[in-house]
Amino acid sequence: MENKLRSVGILGTGSCLPEKALTNHDLEKMVDTSHEWIVKRTGIEQRYVADENTATSDLATKAALRALEDAKVSAEELDLIIVATLTPDMALPATACIVQKNIGAKNAAAFDLEAACSGFLYGMTVAQQFIATGMYEKVLVIGAETLSKVLDWTDRGTCILFGDGAGAAVLGPTEEGMGILSATMGADGEGGKFLFMPAGGSRMPASVETVKERLHYVKMDGSEVFKFAVRIMGKAAKEVLEKSGNSVEDIDYLVPHQANIRIINSAAKKLKMDIEKVHVNLDKVANTSAASVPIALDEAARTGKIKKGDLVVMVGFGGGLTWGANVVRWNK
Ligand code: UT7
Repeated sequence: MENKLRSVGILGTGSCLPEKALTNHDLEKMVDTSHEWIVKRTGIEQRYVADENTATSDLATKAALRALEDAKVSAEELDLIIVATLTPDMALPATACIVQKNIGAKNAAAFDLEAACSGFLYGMTVAQQFIATGMYEKVLVIGAETLSKVLDWTDRGTCILFGDGAGAAVLGPTEEGMGILSATMGADGEGGKFLFMPAGGSRMPASVETVKERLHYVKMDGSEVFKFAVRIMGKAAKEVLEKSGNSVEDIDYLVPHQANIRIINSAAKKLKMDIEKVHVNLDKVANTSAASVPIALDEAARTGKIKKGDLVVMVGFGGGLTWGANVVRWNK
């Protein structure tokens, strides 16, 4: 018998943002910055911030329920839940297990995946393998973060950039030639030092000193990450397009990681792409790390910007350093 891999598509998407928006003007009162600087250097105007009672799993659960509804798939039908996050509710249990309980997906296995801002794209590719081989039928992939809880609100180099939110997609088998056509993932551990959270793990467990020294917050060398991002976005998109047998001219819609408008513009320029075909929402939501691509994707799908048959490219990068991209022939 022939061992043929199945085509895997996105059956539905959903997203969730916290209620409270924090504007650049609000930030002016917290750190030495200005609305003008932030807009000019990043394109961000505001971000959403979870309240003290809201954890990553709460946003993930809402996004998941919306994706299930959109896909017309019940929670019981799910075989696997993957939550990509660097801000889990806690180290144990996995946030994916909390979501599994919240939505009543009692037949699903569940685990978290950490690839920073590339997490959702990694998750899509992992999910694709299970469905393509026939092991699973329906997999829920979520990118969810509450970065606001691990930001140093006295560090203007990081706190202006990030926001909270969650995005989700239900993946399942689709007709041949549709769905995920190609994918790529990559990592460069040498660059781990450019974006990291020093304390709270086994290397530096939490102590009075680590808290005092503010070592539980995100530390970043912005310009190093910027250089890496500009290089990798175009490269990963080109590689994945080539793998899929398509070229830049064939792209109907590009959904990039929403880190900085200058990074997105430079990637679009490198690809010689019309910026009209690039989905940008970072002005409103800022960088939501693993949630960035699925929130943007859900927005683009729900507003009808992406239509059945469109060639959609998703590309992202993040701490690790990591990157990921995929090409999808929209099947919905
Ligand atoms: O998902 C991946 C996450 N990370 C990223 O994507 C980050 C990528 N990097 C970036 O987006 C940019 O590097 C930043 C937005 C973080 C910084 O922009 P930049 O154009 O690279 O600025 P810079 O770090 O070179 O700083 C330029 C100046 C400095 O002042 P001096 O030394 O020229 O006097 C900074 O101190 O801007 C100053 N500065 C600020 N000023 C006002 C840095 N942050 C701020 C701020 N407000 N928030």
